[in-house]
Amino acid sequence: MFPQQNAYRQYFDLSGFWDFRFDPEDQGEAVGWMVGFEGGQPIAVPASWNDQFLEDGPHPARDNLGPAWYQVRFDLPWGFAGRQLSLRFGSVNYLADVWLNGVFLGRHEGGHMAFVFDATEHLRPEGNRLVVRVDGRLASDRVPPGNLPREAGEGFAMHNYPDTAFDFFPYCGIQRPVLLAATPREAIHDVTVTPAIEGEDGLLKVKLKASGSAVRLMLEGFGSQYRQALQLEWEQGEAELRVPKSMLWSPAHPNLYRLTVELLSGGQVCDAYSLMVGIRTVAVEGRLLLLNGEPIFLRGFCRHEDFPVSGRGYLPPVIVRDYDLLKWVGANSFRTSHYPYSEQMLDLADRLGFMVIDETQAVGLFFNENGLERRLELCKQYTGELIQRDKNHPCVIAWSLANEPKSAHPAAKGYFRQLFDLARSLDNSRPVTVVSMVGEAEESFEFLDLVCLNRYNGWYTQSGDLDGGVQALSAELDALYARYQKPIILSEFGADALPGHHAQPPEMFSEEYQAEFITRYIQLLESKPYVVGEHVWNLCDFKTSQGVIRMNSFNYKGVFTRDRRPKLAAHRIKELWGEKK
Ligand code: GCU
Repeated sequence: MFPQQNAYRQYFDLSGFWDFRFDPEDQGEAVGWMVGFEGGQPIAVPASWNDQFLEDGPHPARDNLGPAWYQVRFDLPWGFAGRQLSLRFGSVNYLADVWLNGVFLGRHEGGHMAFVFDATEHLRPEGNRLVVRVDGRLASDRVPPGNLPREAGEGFAMHNYPDTAFDFFPYCGIQRPVLLAATPREAIHDVTVTPAIEGEDGLLKVKLKASGSAVRLMLEGFGSQYRQALQLEWEQGEAELRVPKSMLWSPAHPNLYRLTVELLSGGQVCDAYSLMVGIRTVAVEGRLLLLNGEPIFLRGFCRHEDFPVSGRGYLPPVIVRDYDLLKWVGANSFRTSHYPYSEQMLDLADRLGFMVIDETQAVGLFFNENGLERRLELCKQYTGELIQRDKNHPCVIAWSLANEPKSAHPAAKGYFRQLFDLARSLDNSRPVTVVSMVGEAEESFEFLDLVCLNRYNGWYTQSGDLDGGVQALSAELDALYARYQKPIILSEFGADALPGHHAQPPEMFSEEYQAEFITRYIQLLESKPYVVGEHVWNLCDFKTSQGVIRMNSFNYKGVFTRDRRPKLAAHRIKELWGEKK
């Protein structure tokens, strides 16, 4: 649960300038940097380290994926003494080892996901030293993988530098805020809210994990006089709140309610936690995707958390700007390609009414040995962490277990069956999918709820020949639907356009070709009754590894530039989607 500030809880944000140094010989632990180190330099937290410095000695800091060390000193804030104290990292990419005052608190593997360590008995009133070793190096038994052994199989991602098996720069570091949280000894540990609709009424099924005797729930309509209180004896552990004539959540009307849980001990309130909830349902029915029982069509983009200098770092102004771009262009949804985005970004999606396909960090998966079991364990961890973190967001309408796994392999179907069963056991209120590049060969679509397909006919295939590309795509979509009989989302399509580069008639890498490519795809997709969504790749240009097909180490498929200026395609999409309102 994200830390809160109220009469019973408090948190202190450790964002700011920490101390940082690379560890080129990986000898930091051997020489005792855990208790503090000399020779550091200031670094901004939260942010990636790669673009904050020019070089690390003889090498460019950009390509140094660690290990590297962070440290920060702080005193215990007033009012924290005597409380349950924990350190919560919004995300660290890729591997984090954490020491507090020389005591090892623990290790977390996997970027882009929050993790917490109990710090209660290790904190002192003054002079606390928090030290973090971060290792962002690529390996075939990590997820996402990199530095694949060449014999792992032909056709892996282009040979780029850093040698990723995915197409975005492997930014590293403490990339989201680190919070010191204080909670009462008897506290609420977890809240799960599952909405349902019954006639005109909304139902909120509330499950709790808490140490305490009784629980009181309060529901307040956001912006209305609606208030309902419900006293719940703790033994039940769960309750159902009925909301007569409820206001549903949807992109057009993102109505939210504030649910407050109060924990009672000896008749006194000892803890409280509030969260915004939305009453909405998502379901797949035949060839349709339903929101609140009505067919919906997803129009939007895939994105990246990416910006100059801060890299993958948490940047509120860019989050606000990107939502304004999405609104301006007429989008109603996006996918968190190819890793979970910040919790704060999802809070705004709830509030602004954007539907989100929430994706784990599982990109670039392959299924021959080289760490297969380890990658599966990590995917299970990531799937569990993602659902545990994001389960209460009304904006999240589907879980994506992976992007473009190399699934033309006999082990793929069983691999995703395990992840699908895990996801369904944790949340049976949302569809589950895998975003595929192998199409019909993705046999997991037999049990997945939604078919998501990435296609670039007219770019990587039928290059320059849009007619041929669209024709091939049309035939493939029909075949894919005929085989799986499930709604299809074209989860990626697009073309690189160098900003300011023009050609008439359109030709590849011009803004005209990108606009024409996207226009032809949208016209095709909206003619198919079984297509329920179109997500353009990508909202903005973004940084990737160096490679022969990535000039300037950029992926230029954004319809906006990296500094968020519209290309011709953005104006064209605005016209096309504006007509659909
Ligand atoms: C793939 C992949 C993206 C990549 C894109 C491209 O489908 O999912 O991560 O950036 O294609 O090649 O531009």
